[in-house]
Amino acid sequence: MPSNARKKFPDATRSRAARPALLLDWYDRHRRRLPWRAAAGERPDPYRVWLSEIMLQQTGVKTVGPYFEKFLARWPDVSALGQAPLDDVLRMWAGLGYYSRARNLHACAVAVLRDHGGVFPDTAEGLRTLPGIGPYTAAAIAAIAFQRHVMPVDGNIERVVSRLFAVEEELPQAKPRIQELAATLLDDSCAGDEKSRAGDEKSRAGDSAQALMDLGSSICTPKKPACALCPLNADCTARLCGSQETFPRKAPKKSGALRRGAAFVVSRGDELLLRSRPDKGLLGGMTEVPGSEWLAGQEDEAALTQAPALSGKVRWHRKAGVVTHVFTHFLLELLIYTTSVPARTRAPRGMRWVPIAALEDEALPNVMRKAIARGLGE
Ligand code: ADE
Repeated sequence: MPSNARKKFPDATRSRAARPALLLDWYDRHRRRLPWRAAAGERPDPYRVWLSEIMLQQTGVKTVGPYFEKFLARWPDVSALGQAPLDDVLRMWAGLGYYSRARNLHACAVAVLRDHGGVFPDTAEGLRTLPGIGPYTAAAIAAIAFQRHVMPVDGNIERVVSRLFAVEEELPQAKPRIQELAATLLDDSCAGDEKSRAGDEKSRAGDSAQALMDLGSSICTPKKPACALCPLNADCTARLCGSQETFPRKAPKKSGALRRGAAFVVSRGDELLLRSRPDKGLLGGMTEVPGSEWLAGQEDEAALTQAPALSGKVRWHRKAGVVTHVFTHFLLELLIYTTSVPARTRAPRGMRWVPIAALEDEALPNVMRKAIARGLGE
C-alpha cells in the first residue's frame, strides 16, 4: 500500500487477515445461483464442475447455462459422455464457439474412462494431464470439486486482486504476482499446501474461488465498480487511493489483423449446399457453406474465384454489406454470394445437400449461421 494511503487508513492492515472470512461470509449471503453449482453444504459433483469449467473457458455464464443443462440431460455422467460419438458432441456444442473445446471435452471424457477408471484426478497436477485442461481450469476444478488449496485466476479475479493490492506491474507480466496474492484470499481455516489437503472436507477453497468470481462479475466490475457493497472495501488499496478503475494495469493492446473472404450460399429448392471443415485447425470438423480462404488483404475478385464448381451456368448474386465475426486473433469480414441451382444439380465432391429444415442438426458455428441467415435473406 502506498504510504499516503496507509497513513490515511490505519485500520486497513489489520483487516487483511480477515479477508478470507469476510469473502466467505459475503458469498454465503450473495452467491449466484448457477446450474452447475452445488447448494450450500452439498458435495460438488466433479463431472458437473469440469463440464461447466470447460464451457466457461471463453463463454459467459448466461450463454453457458442452457448448454450445460442440455449436455447434462443427454450425458448425465462422464461415462455416458465418453461413450458418445464425437459428432453428437460437436452437434450439441454448435453455437458455443471455440470448437476445439468440444473435441477436447470428448477426448477428456474418454481419457478419464480409459486411464482413470471413470474418476477424475483430484489434484490440479493430475487434472492438467487431461485434454483441454490448462492451469486455470485445473485450479478451478481442484478448488471447487476437491477443496484443494489453489486459487484459479481468471480475468475477473485478476481485476479484483490487482485493485485490492494496487498491483502496479502491467499484465501479462503481473500474472505470477497476482496469482500469489490471490492465494492469500483462500479459506485459511486449514493450513497446508495443495498436496497435503486431499479431500479436506472442512476447507472451503472452492467457495473462496467462486466468491472472488462472483465479486468480480457483480461488484468489482471493469467500469463503475460498486465499492460501497464490497466486503473487502475497508482495505482495498486502489479504492483508498480513488484509482480503482485504472486497475489492472495493461500494456496497450495490439489489434488482430482483418481477414477477408467469401461464403457461397447455394440453394437447390429447399436444400442448402454444405461441407465439413478439415478436422484440424480453426473450427475443426464443423459444418460450413463452401467458401474462399480467409486472408488478410484478400481482394473481392480473388475470393469470388474460389466459388464451388457447379455444373451449368451459375449466376452469383452478391448480398449488400458483409458479415463480420470476431475470432480470438482476428476479425473476419465475409462477402456473401448466393445462387439457386436446378433440381438435379449434383453436389461438388466433398459437399452435400442438406434440407434447410434440418440445419439445426448440423454442427454449424455462429459465423456460418450468420452467413446462411444473410444469404437466405433473413
Ligand atoms: N467462470 C469460470 N468458472 C466459473 C464458475 N465456476 N462460476 C462462475 N463463473 C465462472
